[in-house]
Amino acid sequence: MKFFVDTAEIDQIKELNDLGMVDGVTTNPSLIAKSGRDILEVTKEICDMVDGPVSAEVVALDADDMLAEGRKLAKIADNIAVKVPLTWAGLKTCKTLTDEGIMVNVTLCFSANQALLAAKAGATFISPFIGRLDDINLDGLELIEDIRTIYDNYGFETNILAASIRSANHMSDCAKIGADVATAPPNVIKAMANHVLTDKGLAAFMADAKKAGIKIV
Ligand code: G3P
Repeated sequence: MKFFVDTAEIDQIKELNDLGMVDGVTTNPSLIAKSGRDILEVTKEICDMVDGPVSAEVVALDADDMLAEGRKLAKIADNIAVKVPLTWAGLKTCKTLTDEGIMVNVTLCFSANQALLAAKAGATFISPFIGRLDDINLDGLELIEDIRTIYDNYGFETNILAASIRSANHMSDCAKIGADVATAPPNVIKAMANHVLTDKGLAAFMADAKKAGIKIV
């Protein structure tokens, strides 16, 4: 499973990218607003740093304006994936941009039917939002499973990009189900390293090393 990092914070992307943990980046208008940066400038900086796809989201609602914004975002770099919402206008924009050879990430997906439409429109990525479904007592992981089944049944090449990931467990759950990509905030990716038994074992090893006076360098 590929790891995308879900942030527009350059320092945090760099730290994970230097460790080889970043296969791509996703942003959205909320994350750009949080960064306090200009969307075109910060997106260019991210694209220069990261080899994989960098999702940059349109803010228009009608198809013509979305298309103009998508084409402008796509000019930032070759690794831009234009992010469009799962609306009828978004699907139209997806089809046109895909036909022009531009990667498209269709976002705000909350149902298997929406994912089916995005695949038909040629999306490179579909972004089902797991956490926001869990927030309203629905099952986000079940949606990932359903989309995996549907895409595999018909050989759709659209990549399942699990989004709105809130915990380290979500990451391993998505990998078990067969999501192609999971995008998570940096703190969630880092939390994947944590285990209480690792902490406990390390404390015991350190105590014994100290007692025995073990020195290596
Ligand atoms: O990639 C979409 C993601 O940023 C949404 O996450 O936590 O705002 O639901 P969240």
